[in-house]
Amino acid sequence: MGTVPIYLVLAPWRHLGALGFALFWMLAASGIYLYIRFDTSIAGAYDSIGALEWWFGGVLRSLHRYAADAFVVVLALHILRELAAGRFRGFRAFTWISGVPLVWLLYASGIVGYWLVWDARAQFSAQATAEWMLAAGIGAEPMARNFLGGESITDRLFSLFVFLHIGLPLALLAGMWVHVQRLGRPATVAPRALAFGLLGMLLALALLHPVASGARWDPAAVPQGLQMDWFLLFVHPLMYATSPALLWWAVGGVTLALAALPYLAARPRAPVAQVDPANCNGCGRCVADCPYEAVTLVGKRALVVEARCAACGICAGACPSATPFRSVAELASGIDLPDLTVHALRERMQQALPADEVVFRCEHARGSGGIALRCLAMLPPSFVEYALRNGARRVKAIGCREGECAWRTGLELSAERFAGAREPHLRPTVTYARHGDAYEFALR
Ligand code: HEM
Ligand code: SF4
Ligand code: SF4
Repeated sequence: MGTVPIYLVLAPWRHLGALGFALFWMLAASGIYLYIRFDTSIAGAYDSIGALEWWFGGVLRSLHRYAADAFVVVLALHILRELAAGRFRGFRAFTWISGVPLVWLLYASGIVGYWLVWDARAQFSAQATAEWMLAAGIGAEPMARNFLGGESITDRLFSLFVFLHIGLPLALLAGMWVHVQRLGRPATVAPRALAFGLLGMLLALALLHPVASGARWDPAAVPQGLQMDWFLLFVHPLMYATSPALLWWAVGGVTLALAALPYLAARPRAPVAQVDPANCNGCGRCVADCPYEAVTLVGKRALVVEARCAACGICAGACPSATPFRSVAELASGIDLPDLTVHALRERMQQALPADEVVFRCEHARGSGGIALRCLAMLPPSFVEYALRNGARRVKAIGCREGECAWRTGLELSAERFAGAREPHLRPTVTYARHGDAYEFALR
């Protein structure tokens, strides 16, 4: 049986969200080791980090730094990809908007992390942050005075940094969890080969280019000759090149623009799925298969949450009532798309029969012609068998381009249904072969 080529299954741009999760776990694991070895006092912090031996502690320290930088890159690519694909409006608004605070949390976690090294770069970053906060009149005055005036910084303040460098990543993790709450079967685990490939690259970088501290933090001196991290700390040089006020406007403006985008670029939506209580037995298949968590069961009946519905039709493809073998004049599914009903699909299929070949094609697939589906997983497998038993020699079902579903999970769900691993399944009397994005079926 032909499948999707491995290089497409592993394509990193398809797993950016999951790679974000992988990087978070790498940071957490290396961070726990660093924390065990770390002296959380002003007097001891700098030396305890400097003492991390290169072959283990040093590698983990470098890995921690490089994973943070990689997280920034992966996040930027994830945002750009969703943006370019127009995946930010309508039913996706929640996922998009809940992503925005994650950018702040990642940056805040990374910047505070730099302060713990207690070297000249930490001093520069903390002072720049304090100046930035002061410019907005944020209640950071005592902290800022400490940093800017060179007054003694207490261990209590340092403990606050440590607390922040643990608390902010935990808030980031909580935000990441919220971010995927409106997605059915969210892909939070990257394919193993990809995650270990990334870990290997970061470890190689850590070995070849170990990170090191700068000169010790000296309140009496102006930090100089710093090695800048252009992924996380670029905001500081940007502020000095412009002004704290301008940086606030820029950062605030980008945040607001991102958060408002789903509403500014809103588009009319396709009619959402409708439940027909007379044909719903409460089996819950539509709930399990909906890629946007838009269906719930209330008692023994499905209920669609309109704002979350993508009108993808995957629920109709899952419903046991949507079988063309039913001898009813009007085929009614328990759940259906008002503008593309399973009854209309059956009619189109019956009109096409008998035929050498019947083709079902997802609207997002390559090519044209055939019976249009909103998603490959909108096709109940029983339609394939019906066509084969009623005059089709062959049936083809074509999904989205090479392994990437416009509705996230349609290709996976179809593959499981056709393989008999998920209800509604294809009966074993039908054989099939998969060629990339197309399935070809025949009777055994
Ligand atoms: C820590 C940062 C982030 C992580 C770890 C993360 C992770 C994820 C994951 C795992 C998914 C699910 C992928 C899938 O199953 O299809 C996802 C989807 C999504 N993310 Fe993020 N994300 C992050 C930040 C953001 C940000 C900042 C935005 C935009 C402002 C964003 C926008 C989206 C959108 C729109 C989707 C839904 C795509 C769809 O409906 O097909 N994410 N993210
Ligand atoms: S059409 Fe059905 S499967 Fe698709 S989002 Fe709406 S309720 Fe979920
Ligand atoms: S799949 Fe159909 S029968 Fe089952 S709960 Fe959903 S609408 Fe009802």
